Amino acid sequence: MERTLSIIKPDGVKRGLIGDVIKRFESNTIRIAAMKMVHLTQSQAEGFYAVHKERPFFNSLVAFMTSGPIVVMVLEGEDVIAKNRTIMGATNYKEAAEGTIRRDFATDIEKNVVHGSDAIETANVEINYFFNTFEIIS
Ligand code: CMP
Repeated sequence: MERTLSIIKPDGVKRGLIGDVIKRFESNTIRIAAMKMVHLTQSQAEGFYAVHKERPFFNSLVAFMTSGPIVVMVLEGEDVIAKNRTIMGATNYKEAAEGTIRRDFATDIEKNVVHGSDAIETANVEINYFFNTFEIIS
C-alpha cells in the first residue's frame, strides 16, 4: 500500500472543484487517508516548493499558492503515486490526456488545479510537510 500527497490548488478551491477532484480519486479505488483545508503563508509555500526556487516561475507560483485556501490530502492505495499522476494529467494542461483533471479543468500551466507527489521519497517529505502521524487514518 502506497501513499501520496495531493493538493487542490487555490484555483480549484475557488472554482468549486473540490468535489469533482475527490470524485475522480474515489471512483478510481483511491482512499483518502487524511484531508484538511489550509491557507499557506509565503514562507510555507516557499518551503513546499523549495525544489523549484531557481526556476523562473517560482515567485509567481508562490504568489498563486498563497492567493487562497488549498485542500491537502493523503491518498492511499496500490501504486497510488503513479495512479494519481495519471488521473491528474501532464503539468501543462495542453499536453494532458483526455479525461484527466488538468485537461478538463486547468486554465494555465500554473493554474493547473492539482498537485501530486512524483515519487516515494518526495511523497514522504510532502506528506510530512502537512500531516503528523495521528492525522493519517489507515
Ligand atoms: P506542480 O505539479 O504543483 O509543480 C510545480 C508547479 O509550478 C506546477 O505544478 C505549476 O503549478 C507551476 N508551474 C508554472 N509554470 C511552470 C512551468 N513552466 N513548468 C512546470 N511547472 C510550472
